[in-house]
Amino acid sequence: MEKIRILGDHALQLRGKVRISGSKNAVLPAIVASLLTEERLWLQNTPRVKDVFTTLTLMEELGADSELKEDILSIRSKKIISPEASYELVRSMRASILVLGPLLARYGKAIVALPGGCAIGSRPIDLHIAGMQRLGASITLEHGYITAEASRLRGADIQFEKKTVGGTENLLMAATLAQGETVLRNCAQEPEVVSMAELLVKMGARIDGVGDEVIRIRGVKELGGATHEIIPDRIEAGTFLVAGALTGGDITLEKVDPGHLTAIVEKLCVSGANIEKVDDSTLRVIGCPDIKPQDITTSPYPGFPTDMQAQFMVLMTQASGTSIITETIFDRRFSHVNELLRLGANIEVNGDKAVVKGKTPLSGAEVMATDLRASASLILAGLIARGETVINDVEHLDRGYEKIEDKLKRLGASIERLKK
Ligand code: EPZ
Repeated sequence: MEKIRILGDHALQLRGKVRISGSKNAVLPAIVASLLTEERLWLQNTPRVKDVFTTLTLMEELGADSELKEDILSIRSKKIISPEASYELVRSMRASILVLGPLLARYGKAIVALPGGCAIGSRPIDLHIAGMQRLGASITLEHGYITAEASRLRGADIQFEKKTVGGTENLLMAATLAQGETVLRNCAQEPEVVSMAELLVKMGARIDGVGDEVIRIRGVKELGGATHEIIPDRIEAGTFLVAGALTGGDITLEKVDPGHLTAIVEKLCVSGANIEKVDDSTLRVIGCPDIKPQDITTSPYPGFPTDMQAQFMVLMTQASGTSIITETIFDRRFSHVNELLRLGANIEVNGDKAVVKGKTPLSGAEVMATDLRASASLILAGLIARGETVINDVEHLDRGYEKIEDKLKRLGASIERLKK
């Protein structure tokens, strides 16, 4: 297992420019959407993160060929040679479940391992399955696999019981080739969902209401190839905004979409950071020494993103007062708290709430990364903890951040990756 070592410093002020990579959560569904056509997709601004390579391995097992040159990924599923997403792959990346809809729509069959739980909760896929059944798929669950079959999917009116990013993406893709019209209600409105719908339209899908809670899709016989720019990663951007606020630094973030960051920017400004929009793709964050406590409640977009909860919690350990963080999306997304306690934070978890008492000086320690965003929060804490922090299991981090230690080093952090 690889480790990252940070020499923290209370007085550290990160300064300089950082280029934000393409969004992991936007590129994964875009790659999977290539299953819907026998023509080629070109995806620009593709981030070189572990989950992309895992998804490409899965796609190749299904029959796709792909090539990543610089940040341009070309991928084509000319012929599907297998409808099976194995447990080996699915357990390493839950987003593999996204192949269910496209395989059913294009191939008429899908065999996908049940993803199981993970560090941030039980993460069921009942809404994906219920939606596919509404489109006429017959589904059996046995031996830890979902087997779904449908000679041809038929359009239906589907109401999601709760907002689900993956569920919306899966059903959107399936509906593009279904017979007749599908109406999806209570859809997730995350930018990654919108971007995938825009790609489907470029491929020839007939979709009305992109970005709304109600989306209408009229099925077509086939889809074609397309070229698509992957949107910037708003969670990576949010992580660097917090890094600037936390260290009282001055960081310019390039290649961001400020429109995707409203809830994060608002909370950071109220807590004392100064964030200015330099231009349509550039933000500048200047931290301030006196961080004010803020209560946050995570919620579906455009609310405060659950993927930023752990990072913001670190900022609140340095606020002058008490903050209450309420996690409403996942049932167990506080695994970073125990590790932050090892660094000296004062946090008490009670159900879906974490009460964070600040200002608490942190001191370096050896800690364990448990999931992707928890890993990011430990890096942020290590930057300002006095002394050395070593983070184990950084493979989690590599799933969604492209060379984060290099980016932080260029901003003045004393951080290095320790090979095994
Ligand atoms: C996506 O996960 C993201 N992953 C997650 O980012 C993100 O945290 C999440 O959306 C919420 O924004 C990708 O896009 C690859 P959901 P997803 O379906 O689609 C429940 C990261 O760090 N639910 O919106 O799996 C579910 O348990 C990752 O980049 C059901 O009950 O999330 C959760 O409580 C972590 N039944 C809530 O809905 C279902 O069938 C939202 O989940 C599906 C979901």
